[in-house]
Amino acid sequence: MRLLSLFLITFLFTLSSCQNETKEQSGMKKELFGKMPDGKEVYLYSISNKAGATMNVINYGAIIQSLTMPDKNGKFQDIVLGYDNLEGYLRNNPYFGAIVGRFGNRIGKGQFELDGKAYQLSVNDGPNHLHGGIAGFDKKYWNLEEITVPNGLGVQATYLSPDGEMGYPGNLTIKINIILTDQNELRFEYEAETDQPTILNPTHHAYFNLTGLMDNLILDHKLTIDADYITPTDSGLIPTGELLPVEGTPMDFRQPKLIGEDINMDYVPLKLAKGYDHNWVLNNYEKDVVRKVATLCDSVSGRVMEVYSDQPGIQFYSGNFLNGTIKGKGGVVYKFRSGLCLETQHFPDSPNKPDFPSVVLRPGEVYKQVTSYKFSVK
Ligand code: GLA
Repeated sequence: MRLLSLFLITFLFTLSSCQNETKEQSGMKKELFGKMPDGKEVYLYSISNKAGATMNVINYGAIIQSLTMPDKNGKFQDIVLGYDNLEGYLRNNPYFGAIVGRFGNRIGKGQFELDGKAYQLSVNDGPNHLHGGIAGFDKKYWNLEEITVPNGLGVQATYLSPDGEMGYPGNLTIKINIILTDQNELRFEYEAETDQPTILNPTHHAYFNLTGLMDNLILDHKLTIDADYITPTDSGLIPTGELLPVEGTPMDFRQPKLIGEDINMDYVPLKLAKGYDHNWVLNNYEKDVVRKVATLCDSVSGRVMEVYSDQPGIQFYSGNFLNGTIKGKGGVVYKFRSGLCLETQHFPDSPNKPDFPSVVLRPGEVYKQVTSYKFSVK
């Protein structure tokens, strides 16, 4: 009997120390996820950090296929929308978890002029260009290399966008470090170069739902955006060029506010976009200076996500085009507003708005962007 209990105690002790060990060890696995129509193999890179959080990234679209974070009780759940397999992404992907570009968001009629030359981009949103055109970065095969940084692991995603692709001038090489740190931070470090003058505005398009249960809507999330203005738009969601103060409007997120509080108000910008789908002009913009720009909280799970970025704007999109026709991971149907995006960016239609911060990239210059999503609990 004594011997048996000694054995049991030793067994339980070993088991618990093993569990601690797995939690404190970060790691990376790579497995086949599927094949592109041309036969190219798409891999899933699974990364885990020392805190037990995980991130899956695939070659197609440099998509973050899943991201798990702990709730206030230490329970890890996936907090992003997406698919279980490559077929889902290939069939119909409203940019779930993808890198978007070359130009994230809209360019009126897909037209712009640069150095006196007129360009016509691919149009894919009525008469306008959206998120890089019919086959933007989200539909490209990205080369992924595993990388290690002092406090985390990740992949370096690279892509060469040839001159003329989707109508954009210049061969563009883009490199993005996508890192999961041991402090539960998801970090994007972008760098790009061109051999001809061009325009560039890439972003990341995760749909978050901090409850971890994707049949919940995001209307009970509390959002703060550090912005005094938005860029109001016409009915095609192209900015008019003006800045509109958020003060006294449903667009005011300077203090934490439930997303559902004003979303159905009879207010023209909300009606035009069927909810929130606007660019906020972030305060304290200074090129290459990262500051906190937004905070998202879900009081039930206790999950908090803080967004840090060096960008001048952020598109807050409340999932208004989700309509119950997509069955995502685990067979869950994604309903109207069951995920939200916080896309750091330069303002939509910047190439046609001389007063907006410039999106021009010239040979010899290096485009840079740093954006990170830091997770914690409250
Ligand atoms: C962005 C756009 C939206 C929509 C979504 C994806 O947020 O602003 O209008 O295109 O992407 O559907």
